[in-house]
Amino acid sequence: MKFEDILKSKEAEGKEKHVPIIEIGKGRGREGVDVVRVVVGRDVPHPNTVEHHIAWIELYGVRKDGQVIDLGRADFAPSYTNPNVRFQVPVEQFKSFCALAYCNVHGLWENCIEI
Ligand SMILES: [Fe+2]
Repeated sequence: MKFEDILKSKEAEGKEKHVPIIEIGKGRGREGVDVVRVVVGRDVPHPNTVEHHIAWIELYGVRKDGQVIDLGRADFAPSYTNPNVRFQVPVEQFKSFCALAYCNVHGLWENCIEI
């Protein structure tokens, strides 16, 4: 088995939405900094209970020279915090972003965007 075998993407989506949606906001943060927003359940909210929730989101960036950078992680308190997080990132240094989201019932989900 390879790590990629446990990652699910858009093709595996069912009624509940798990794929982390990545949005770029150039100059949208305080003092004009760039932000990368990652959200699960933007259009169809994912359950947020102790029994079933998104536990964490991680963001990775691929620099223009190909190096992969771990840009950060957010852990969520079930029933209190929603899986919606913003990272301040110098977007112009990257050519793509990838995010992971973990649902405690439905596993590990991935998504990537090209800039
Ligand atoms: Fe789920």
